[in-house]
Amino acid sequence: MLIRAKTEADTAGCVDLLLRVHRQDNYPLHLAPHEVPGFLAGEHETAAWVAEQDGRIVGHVALHCPPDDPTLTVAGNATGLPTDAMALVSRLFIAPDRRRSGLGRVLLRHAAGQARAFGQRAVLDVGQALAPPIALYESEGWNRVGELHIPLDAGPVLDLWVYVSPESPDLRMV
Ligand SMILES: CC(C)(COP(=O)(O)OP(=O)(O)OC[C@H]1O[C@@H](n2cnc3c(N)ncnc32)[C@H](O)[C@@H]1OP(=O)(O)O)[C@@H](O)C(=O)NCCC(=O)NCCS
Repeated sequence: MLIRAKTEADTAGCVDLLLRVHRQDNYPLHLAPHEVPGFLAGEHETAAWVAEQDGRIVGHVALHCPPDDPTLTVAGNATGLPTDAMALVSRLFIAPDRRRSGLGRVLLRHAAGQARAFGQRAVLDVGQALAPPIALYESEGWNRVGELHIPLDAGPVLDLWVYVSPESPDLRMV
């Protein structure tokens, strides 16, 4: 298993994987399949990594630093940190046939560790209905610090929990 920085050449493989995840898990929430590539493109992405096995992309995670983001506002209110001292862990997904082997945990720790290396605290939001990632974040000691209810153009409301990474990360090996 190789964890490496995402490149332009990975775009098709990442979109293909996220479309499979979307079909199975309904993540990303409230999006049609044709909107999935745009969701992944992420104009505020500052860094991203893929997990590759046997030449195939089996996982993805990114850091985003958007300006005026409601999740960063909630996290900032909870931590006292300014927006530019935080980074959003975003677009974490693992191939359906590679689940529960620790890869999600590895990519989450990698992204949070890289944020720390950039001098930033990792924070994130997660759909309140998404039990597997919530279980992952809480098992890693992330703290729920608030919630958001964002009305979408299409009618539904995006119900999110906001989490911040632990100040002293658990450095157990996986
Ligand atoms: C969430 C996700 C990334 C987890 O990836 P994964 O590689 O299967 O996770 P791991 O194997 O590292 O699991 C680590 C821990 O998370 C928790 N967890 C993960 N999946 C779980 C599930 N389906 N049910 C309950 N707990 C789960 C467990 O505590 C697990 O530890 P354990 O296996 O020792 O019990 C994966 O399910 C996924 O891609 N989901 C769809 C996309 C998504 O929802 N992304 C999150 C966006 S915010």
